[in-house]
Amino acid sequence: MEREKMGGPVEAPLEAILEEERVFPPPPQFREQANVRDPQVYQEAERDPEGFWERWARELTWFQPWEKVLEWDPPWAKWFVGGKTNLAYNCLDRHLMGPRRNKAAIIWEGEPGEVRILTYWELYRQVCRFANALKALGVRKGDRVTIYMPMVPEAAVAMLACARIGAVHSVVFAGFTADALRDRIQDAQAKVLVTAEGLWRRGNILPLKEYADQALEACPTVEKVVVFHRGCKEKEQVPMRRGRDIWWDEAIASAALQCPPEEMDAEDMLYILYTSGTTGKPKGVVHTTGGYMVGIYATTQWVFDIKEGDTYWCTADIGWVTGHSYVIYGPLLCGATTLMYEGAPDWPQRDRWWSIIERHGVTILYTAPTAIRTFMRWGEEWPGRHDLSSLRLLGTVGEPINPEAWVWYWRHIGGGRCPVVDTWWQTETGMIMITPLPGITHCKPGSATLPFPGVRAEVVDERGQPVPPGAGGYLVLTRPWPAMLRVLYGDPERYKVQYWSRFPGVYFTGDGARRDQDGYFWIVGRIDDVVNVSGHRIGTMEVESILVEHPAVAEAAVVGRSHEVKGQALWAFVTLRDDVVAGPSLEEELREHVSKRIGAFARPDRVIFTPELPKTRSGKIMRRLLRDIAEGRALGDVTTLQDPEVVRSLKEQYEHIEGG
Ligand code: WT7
Repeated sequence: MEREKMGGPVEAPLEAILEEERVFPPPPQFREQANVRDPQVYQEAERDPEGFWERWARELTWFQPWEKVLEWDPPWAKWFVGGKTNLAYNCLDRHLMGPRRNKAAIIWEGEPGEVRILTYWELYRQVCRFANALKALGVRKGDRVTIYMPMVPEAAVAMLACARIGAVHSVVFAGFTADALRDRIQDAQAKVLVTAEGLWRRGNILPLKEYADQALEACPTVEKVVVFHRGCKEKEQVPMRRGRDIWWDEAIASAALQCPPEEMDAEDMLYILYTSGTTGKPKGVVHTTGGYMVGIYATTQWVFDIKEGDTYWCTADIGWVTGHSYVIYGPLLCGATTLMYEGAPDWPQRDRWWSIIERHGVTILYTAPTAIRTFMRWGEEWPGRHDLSSLRLLGTVGEPINPEAWVWYWRHIGGGRCPVVDTWWQTETGMIMITPLPGITHCKPGSATLPFPGVRAEVVDERGQPVPPGAGGYLVLTRPWPAMLRVLYGDPERYKVQYWSRFPGVYFTGDGARRDQDGYFWIVGRIDDVVNVSGHRIGTMEVESILVEHPAVAEAAVVGRSHEVKGQALWAFVTLRDDVVAGPSLEEELREHVSKRIGAFARPDRVIFTPELPKTRSGKIMRRLLRDIAEGRALGDVTTLQDPEVVRSLKEQYEHIEGG
C-alpha cells in the first residue's frame, strides 16, 4: 500500500516511471520517524538564519560562548566570533559520559576481510595517545600535518588527533602518486607526514611509503614521518630513514593516555584540503573550527536523519571532502556508528558492498552516481543475492545523477522503501548545501531539490540577475554559511578572484544549473575548465601541464567528454615535437605518464594527436570546439579559427575512433 503511494509499485517498468516524471514523496513510515518533519523549518530559518545556526551551535560543547554569530565583511566571514571549542572533544569526549561510551564509533572492514570495531571509548583513547605522540614529535598548534593514508581507522585517529591538539591536517588522497603528494606537502609546509607502508586494492599492494619517500626528496619542511604498519609487507621490507621515520606503534608506545583538548578559537584553522581549480596549481581550501563543526552537525542530523541505532556508511575516501565531513566528523559529532571499508567494490566479487551491508546491517548508504552506474552495468543479480532490508535511507553526491541511475538505486538497492537524497555541495562549501530533507521533500530523480534551511542559492545570468524558471545560468550562493571556506591557503587574492569577483559579494560555484517551476535546482555540471571524472574533480590545466612536461609533447589541450559510467572522461589533444612520430604506443605512454604523475583516476581515456590545435586568430585554444569534437557534436561557427582545416582533420579522426 505505502509503496504504491510513494512512487508506484517497485515492479513498474523503469521507462514508465521516467516518462511520467514521477515525484517521490517521503514514504509515510519514514516521515513519521524523521528528525525533521515540519516544512516550517524553511521559513523559520529564512526569517532568522543566524538564529537558526545558533540553535544548532548550542547543542554542541563550547569552552567559551561566542559573542556574535556572524561577522560578514565580504568575502571575509567569521562565525561564532569569540567562541572557543574543540572539534575532537565534540566528536569523542562529549559522548563518553553517557551510554555511547561503549557504542561502536567506527566499524572497519579491510579489503582482505578483517573487521575491527572501535567503540567511542577506544577511539578516544587512541586519539589521545596519537595526539601525545604527535606532540612528542614536535607538533604544536597551527603546525601542518599531512596525512597520506589508506582507509583504516588510524586515518581517522590521525585526523582527530590533529584536531585535538590544534594542528592543521592536510589529507592527501592515497590514490595520488608521489608528485601530487610532494606539491601538496610543499604548499602546506608540513612538519610531519603520517602514512602507511601500503594499502590493499583489488588484491594488489599500493606502496604508499615508496611514494612518500619519493615525494619527501623535495620536502625539506618535513621533520618526521609516522608509518602505520598496514600489514601489506613485513616491517623488515620497508626502508625507514633513521632519525626521520618512526613506526606508528613505536610512536604511541610511550605516549600518555591523557591529552587535554586544545582550546580552539572558532576561527582557528582546522584543515586544508587541496582541490583542483582552473590553473595548474591545486587550491588549498581552508576550513576553520566552529562554523564547520556546526554546519556538519546540522546537515548530518537532518539530511541523513541519524538515529542512535543507525549503522551509517558513506563510501567516500577520507582523501576527499566527503570523507572529512560525512565519514568522520559529521557522524561522530552525532554520536553515530560510521562504517569504513578499505578496498574495491569488486573484490573478491562484484557483490562486496552488498555483502558488507548485509553483514553489518547498514541502515544508511551514501555514495556516488558513478558507483551506482557501475553497479547498474554489473547487473541487479549482485545486490539481489543479499538481504538489504536493513537499509532505510540512500544518498548520492559528487556529480549530477541521471534519473535512470536514481530510479535503479531507489528500486534495486532501496527496495522502493528508502528515500534517496541527492546532495549538492563542494570541497569549498564544507557541508551539504542543496538537498532534500528525507522526511519532507518530494524528490524528483535528477534534481538536488532545494537549499538546506538557512542556505540561499540562486541561478543567475552573466549580469548576476536571476533567470526565469527553466532557463540555464550560473549557480551562486547568496548568503554566507557556517562551513564555508575562509580562504585559499597562502593565497587570499586567489580566494577573492576565484569565488567572489564574478558577482561581487556573491559566491560563484563554477557550476551551471537551472530551476524548474517548483524552484527545484537541477545541477548541470561544471562550466569552467574543471572535469568531474567518477566524482573526482580534475583541472584540465593540471593534466595539460603534466602532458607538456613529456619530451614528446609540444602542446596539449584537455577536455571532458561525457561518459556512461564515469560521468565525464578526459580526452587529451596533443601536438608533438617535430622529430616525434605519433603511434599507439605513444598514446599509451602519455596516458601512463599522467597516471604516474597524478594518479590512476586522472588517466585520459584518449590521447588524440593533431598537427595543430584549433586556435583563434589571437592564439587562444578553442576548448569549446575540442569539447564538441570529443562529444561528436555538430560543429558551430569556426570562422574565427586560425586554420579551419585543423578541425576537419580532428573530426575525421574522431569518426575513425568511434567507428572503430
Ligand atoms: C563539484 C564539487 C561535494 C563532495 C564531492 C565533490 C559536483 C557535487 C553534486 C550533485 C550535481 C554535484 C559539482 C560541484 N557535484 N555534488 N549532487 N549534483 N553535481 O566535491 O570535488 O569539491 O566537487 O561536484 O560540479 O561543483 P568536489
